[in-house]
Amino acid sequence: MRYIGNKTRLLPFIASALDRLRLRVGSAHDAFAGTAAVGRALKQRGWRVASSDLMTYSYVFQRAYVVAQRAPNFADLRAADPELRAALRGARFRRAVAARGGGALATVAEYLARWIDPEPGFVSSHFGPEGGRMYFSIENARRIDAVRARLDAWRAEGLVSDDAFYLLLAALVEGADRVANTAGVYAAYIKSWQPNALHALDLLVTLPVNGVRGATAHQADAAAVARAIGPVDLLYVDPPYNSRQYAGYYHVPEIIARGWFGAEVPALSGKTGLPSRGGQRSAWSSARGVTRAFEELLAGTSAKHVLVSYNSEGLMPESVLRRTLTEASIDGSVRRFTRAYRRYRADRDHARRRYRDDGLRELLYYARLRR
Ligand SMILES: C[S@@+](CC[C@H](N)C(=O)[O-])C[C@H]1O[C@@H](n2cnc3c(N)ncnc32)[C@H](O)[C@@H]1O
Repeated sequence: MRYIGNKTRLLPFIASALDRLRLRVGSAHDAFAGTAAVGRALKQRGWRVASSDLMTYSYVFQRAYVVAQRAPNFADLRAADPELRAALRGARFRRAVAARGGGALATVAEYLARWIDPEPGFVSSHFGPEGGRMYFSIENARRIDAVRARLDAWRAEGLVSDDAFYLLLAALVEGADRVANTAGVYAAYIKSWQPNALHALDLLVTLPVNGVRGATAHQADAAAVARAIGPVDLLYVDPPYNSRQYAGYYHVPEIIARGWFGAEVPALSGKTGLPSRGGQRSAWSSARGVTRAFEELLAGTSAKHVLVSYNSEGLMPESVLRRTLTEASIDGSVRRFTRAYRRYRADRDHARRRYRDDGLRELLYYARLRR
């Protein structure tokens, strides 16, 4: 997913730091999980991962990419849904599933993405042209509504397991992001249709990583989770760097992840349809709160080792970050790994415009902690 601070492209950098530090594989807390890219990579390397984030969509990714262990078989759903069984008998459907790589998960993704009828619902009446906003085309907004409603119904009827629900919901949040008519974040939509927004919504599912059992997902503050989970070998800290609140930049994926089927239908306001009751504000996004939040996290964790991703333009000055880490360390020493990194850009690079090195560096700090 297009996400500020997404570490997918920096995974080799993080992995090479872990190798150079010769940390023995054990248990890890990915405290600011976001897309869950780091937790997933750690699980792939054999770690038992606990992860946390304030946002619901991140919880969905954690469940799909870190907690789930194997692809669901959807036997109950097949038995209960005659439309799905009818689709499965068709050659065109089976060819489409084969093109996705086959398997039960791809079958249900194909069914949801292309075979159920689009229907008007919360997304089309708030985030599509029918609701006066242009985050999604009418067709895609109605498809998102239909898929989200179907997932909710299947879950309520007990036809899909939790793993299946989160794997498909993660694919929906990511699929919606690929066709969102934005410049990358949802703080505004673009007032003319971008080419990606005119593509049909699709659900591309990712097979779960079958790793060490016992991974956990948490939708909560990093420090609270650190205290609750107790001793771990490694704490990975990748907090917001600046004053942009994720709750305001990703309110649309948040609503798709939460749904709108319970007693509480979200109330939205303003041009962009932000939830009227505000969102999950983070102390890490305020210059006044960030140092205290960092100290609290380090005081609350019982991790042996800590790795902190931060960039050279973060709200917390490097001197403060280093001092705070040094004070929490067992031996007064902090190591730093550096890599030049392309600034986050929502727009694409193109042939004649090359990014110059604009001085932004991704920094990774390591300390061994007292605990
Ligand atoms: C830089 S992003 C993390 C990116 C992530 N490592 C990835 O690869 O996608 C920072 C994340 O911290 C989350 N966040 C902000 N304040 C938090 C808090 N107090 N506790 C837990 N997560 C928080 C945000 O929702 C956001 O997802």
